[in-house]
Amino acid sequence: MKDGKLVTLAIESSCDETAAAVMLDGREMLSNIISSQIDIHKLYGGVVPEIASRHHLNNVNTVVEQALEESGLDMDDVDMIGVTYGPGLVGALLIGLATAKAYALATGKPLIGVHHIQGHISANYIEHKELEPPFMALVVSGGHTNLVEVTGYNECKVLGGTRDDAVGEAYDKVARVLGLGYPGGPLIDRIAGEGNPDAVEFKRVFLEKGSLDFSFSGIKTGVLNYVNSEKQAGREINVADVAASFQAAVLDVIVKKTVDSAVELGKDKIVMAGGVASNSRLREMLGSACRKRGIKLYHPSPVLCTDNAAMIGCAAYYKYIAGGRDDLTLDAVPNLEL
Ligand code: KG4
Ligand code: ZN
Repeated sequence: MKDGKLVTLAIESSCDETAAAVMLDGREMLSNIISSQIDIHKLYGGVVPEIASRHHLNNVNTVVEQALEESGLDMDDVDMIGVTYGPGLVGALLIGLATAKAYALATGKPLIGVHHIQGHISANYIEHKELEPPFMALVVSGGHTNLVEVTGYNECKVLGGTRDDAVGEAYDKVARVLGLGYPGGPLIDRIAGEGNPDAVEFKRVFLEKGSLDFSFSGIKTGVLNYVNSEKQAGREINVADVAASFQAAVLDVIVKKTVDSAVELGKDKIVMAGGVASNSRLREMLGSACRKRGIKLYHPSPVLCTDNAAMIGCAAYYKYIAGGRDDLTLDAVPNLEL
């Protein structure tokens, strides 16, 4: 405890970020350490699972020590240990989970397993002190694209998801086709700002009427086909125009489905989460669609959009105060459902 508040030490290692954080009563961030492996995976154009696990193993203890040191607290002050146990890369998850279990066993502190997506959504509670459920959540990251109805801190229902690629994955693949580099999301975000979103007409995939699912593999192929046919015709490709047109096609669908679902379910708040939630055009488009419907839009700042442990600490706290506990049999679940 610290000043009568519960202290959470949280660990996240589901993909290519080794992260640890210390939180007070779930919403107050005392430290948030993120050791990113992006520069290593960049060499391969994407995350290499085995390499990710090895780097998590090398970094995790240092990251936890730094998080405690920066918080000004020590292990005796900690009330619970929160950790991501899925979904994610199994080898990567196992490193964070084994570390959290070791701390829990050595100190006798309760272990709280957190769903990674629950964590992403909870990132919003950290910066928006007044935010409370219920609301509609749009989770858009490198591994996920979900519309989630959040009815309580620990209660939610997935209304739709991607049938193929996650939206961040589509950004990363299209960036590769355009020769922009990795990770592609922020690069497309930047260059699309200089392009014309109406330059190339890519198909908007809405699926069956009423469906809140998504499909992004078609647009990825659409961009590839467009680039190849232009090259064959000997025409120069305007990368900014293609990036802007791709982005417009993807975001038109996401924004419409998100706002329609909120209106349908009578939600007056929409919360964005995940790496793609820091996309500037998505924020603009969703922001303007929400204003027209009288819906309040929330999103975390970029550092809390991408993978971090503060969001895991927040979700762990809400699970803990609702009586949730895990034990040392908790296993990593790569395809964990919400
Ligand atoms: O949430 P995150 O760090 O990891 C997962 O849980 O997947 O999200 C990473 C993804 C990557 O695909 C990256 O390209 C994308 O988020 N991303 C963006 C932006 N920043 C990160 N996509 C579009 N625009 C951005 N500004
Ligand atoms: Zn994530």
